[in-house]
Amino acid sequence: MKPKASLVLPVGAGFPKLPPVPHNAKATRRKSLIFAAVVTFVVLLASCPDIAQLHSFPFKLAPSRQIDFKSRCAQPDALFPTQDDVLDDAYARISTPAFRNASIRRLSGAVQVKTESFDDLGPIGEDPRWDVFYNFHDYLEKAFPLIHQHLLLEKVNTYGLLYTWKGSDDLLKPTLLMAHQDTVPVPPETVDAWTYPPWSGAYDGTHIWGRGASDDKNQLIAVMETIELLLEAGFKPRRTILLSFGFDEECSGTRGASSLAAFIKERYGREGIAVIVDEGSGFEQAWGTLFAKPGTAEKGYTDVHLTVRTPGGHSSVPSDHTSIGILSELITMIEAEQYPTRLVNENPYYTQLQCGAAYSPEFPHKLKKLLDRRSSTSAWHQKRWKAEQDFLAIEAAKQGPVIKYLMQTSQAVDVISGGIKVNALPERATAIVNHRINIGETTQVVKDRLTHLAGAVAKKYNLTLHAFDGKEEPSSIILSGSTYELEVAPVTPADASVKGPFSVLAGTVRALYGEDVIVTPGIMTGNTDTRYYWDLTKHIFRFAPGFDPEDEPGLGTIHTVNEKVSVRNHLNAVRWFTLFIRNMDEADI
Ligand SMILES: *[C@@H]1O[C@H](CO)[C@@H](O)[C@H](O)[C@H]1NC(C)=O
Ligand SMILES: *[C@@H]1O[C@H](CO)[C@@H](O)[C@H](O)[C@H]1NC(C)=O
Ligand SMILES: [Zn+2]
Repeated sequence: MKPKASLVLPVGAGFPKLPPVPHNAKATRRKSLIFAAVVTFVVLLASCPDIAQLHSFPFKLAPSRQIDFKSRCAQPDALFPTQDDVLDDAYARISTPAFRNASIRRLSGAVQVKTESFDDLGPIGEDPRWDVFYNFHDYLEKAFPLIHQHLLLEKVNTYGLLYTWKGSDDLLKPTLLMAHQDTVPVPPETVDAWTYPPWSGAYDGTHIWGRGASDDKNQLIAVMETIELLLEAGFKPRRTILLSFGFDEECSGTRGASSLAAFIKERYGREGIAVIVDEGSGFEQAWGTLFAKPGTAEKGYTDVHLTVRTPGGHSSVPSDHTSIGILSELITMIEAEQYPTRLVNENPYYTQLQCGAAYSPEFPHKLKKLLDRRSSTSAWHQKRWKAEQDFLAIEAAKQGPVIKYLMQTSQAVDVISGGIKVNALPERATAIVNHRINIGETTQVVKDRLTHLAGAVAKKYNLTLHAFDGKEEPSSIILSGSTYELEVAPVTPADASVKGPFSVLAGTVRALYGEDVIVTPGIMTGNTDTRYYWDLTKHIFRFAPGFDPEDEPGLGTIHTVNEKVSVRNHLNAVRWFTLFIRNMDEADI
């Protein structure tokens, strides 16, 4: 026989007629059939590269699609403002010992003014615990005389600070820099655990210690020092500069940021701001590359309260399942399945992976291969990605829970209560489940799933289900949302090949830290005060621009004992803001 003949058969022509069977018969014939089938399959594959790519064949059947990941993670050149001797001198002054000393004094002094915010704070004007912010305002006035002489200061809802440095060109939308004045409290029982007392603002030769040193007085003071420096140098902005400092970020910003945002919107209108920079993520080493990761997205948030009500009675004649037992069953069902790990195209972590593929020497081969496939533009592939599990996300999630939850809605049963007496059946048992919503999903996804599960339990125990309808009755399961709920934030555009706020921000990062630093959009699993500012601009960045190569990775000591910030980190933040303001001032965007 001539097996090669089948190779030249046009696809779809069917199998060749086999020659008459000679004496050694059936075995040969079967082999021929199998061979012909394999060859035809190979021919089919070769003509269909999509299939060849998808199934990881050990041999190459089609020319591989070379995805240019660099074009998907464009890096702008380092962006320096136009030369200006006076302003450049001022910039150089940040590096002098005198500025360093003064900066340490200013930040240390700010930490020493206690500005704790508490979840149970009463109304402004009634609860005396708010008054600490007057002390902080007094402090800022003393520390930054030029700002208080030249800028307009408006106090919004008593303690919110809005500084306006009016630019000469009204056609340019303002640059808005944010920070918050408040800190989380220091629980009295933890004070002894601090190396330096939490309100000391101690300087140990490299770091400034104390509550608020890195969340968020460093950013607030860096912004103020930048403006004071630019005023001193005689800078005349074309573009208006706004500083907006809330005072209850650590308890959701309902009185501070919400009032400030409304005030600013009233004055500048919807989309009236060019760019916003607030506290957020900073720098991180990954796959052998240093990334700057300004946060361009925030996960959503919702707490769901689960309540089971059953008749009470004496525990000597119990029902088989009490409220507590039924609630436990529901919780077990909830935990039995996790939300899917999914990486939609808008999720900044998808860009981060492509940045890794483009620039990182140690980027994992397997992730790269999955990215290649994901990036295929064929409709057939796209459909498959939507229909099936997100293999790329699942593989990326193997890096650990911190990465996984950038791509997955989290659920955590954090609070439970029920029962009051050991010999009385509990009439009511309640649990609270905390969720952070994945990019591409909504709080409704969570509510639908819980309604479905609670419905099954209610049916099993003949209870009425009240799912998010605000009602309740005896013998029922009640689901209710929290007063504080937040959808996923709109994702900030972050393509540096397009001239815009992101390219200015990224170019400024590379000007300060060098072009080995790769700037990629990042994602916040928590929320900042910017949650109230969504209407003001599409270009919101949650970014801590200070970097010190010796900093501990991650969030460091935020919200815990021994909060501190390195002076090197802080001074770099001042440098960055100084360059950024000048770059934004020159940018025609
Ligand atoms: C800065 O502070 C250090 C330590 O307190 C001091 O020795 C030094 O003279 C100061 N330098 C300037 C220029 O103020
Ligand atoms: C279920 O509850 C209803 C009223 O709450 C009651 O009338 C009915 O008999 C119960 N059914 C069972 C099977 O217990
Ligand atoms: Zn903060």
